[in-house]
Amino acid sequence: MSAKIPVAVLISGRGSNMLALARACARADHPARIVVVIADGEAPGLAAAAAAGLPTTIVSRADFAERAAFDAALDAALRAHGAEIVCLAGFMRILGPALVARWEGRILNIHPSLLPAFKGLDTHARALAADVKIHGASVHLVTAALDDGPILAQAALPVRPDDTAESLAARVLEAEHRLYPAALARHITGAGPPAAETALFNPPLAPSPGAPPSDC
Ligand code: GRF
Repeated sequence: MSAKIPVAVLISGRGSNMLALARACARADHPARIVVVIADGEAPGLAAAAAAGLPTTIVSRADFAERAAFDAALDAALRAHGAEIVCLAGFMRILGPALVARWEGRILNIHPSLLPAFKGLDTHARALAADVKIHGASVHLVTAALDDGPILAQAALPVRPDDTAESLAARVLEAEHRLYPAALARHITGAGPPAAETALFNPPLAPSPGAPPSDC
């Protein structure tokens, strides 16, 4: 395989997607390597990143009065570590238009819904409130608009009648951990298995519905 592409992962929280990316990137057959994990403050995930042997740094939003100055510092940190692609993984800051433009097509985000549904926060509770039957996660390219931008990959799963926001979040998160490394690899190489033809039905269809009755 040709040289791995240097990737920065940006986090604000526990960093489970960052760790899923780190595990995948550690494999010889994944086309990315993580060069730095950047947090916008004292994120719990930083310790996990360090324990995984990844370089970490904090670019604290609190240190900058203006968002543009914060963005410039982020940009400088990304460049200093030689990043070519940025993966937002639970990064709770909206990047300004100048930074997004500078990294156009090279910033990925993972969002816990089937976009364009449920942009923003509390996606699982909102999905339950809307009575959707299928929910999931999306990896998309970041544009100046929140949770917008071309969708690169999605994982869909059935909502169960007894789901709570927590149970649904846990199943979606598991799917996120598989989806994000695969979407990153595909974004870098442009290659991947052909799209699966299987449809996800929920409620499931009867095993063999057969032909419709002749009198309908
Ligand atoms: C994930 O649900 C991700 O989709 C969203 O923020 C959450 C981050 O979780 N953008 P973690 O920090 O990766 O565990």
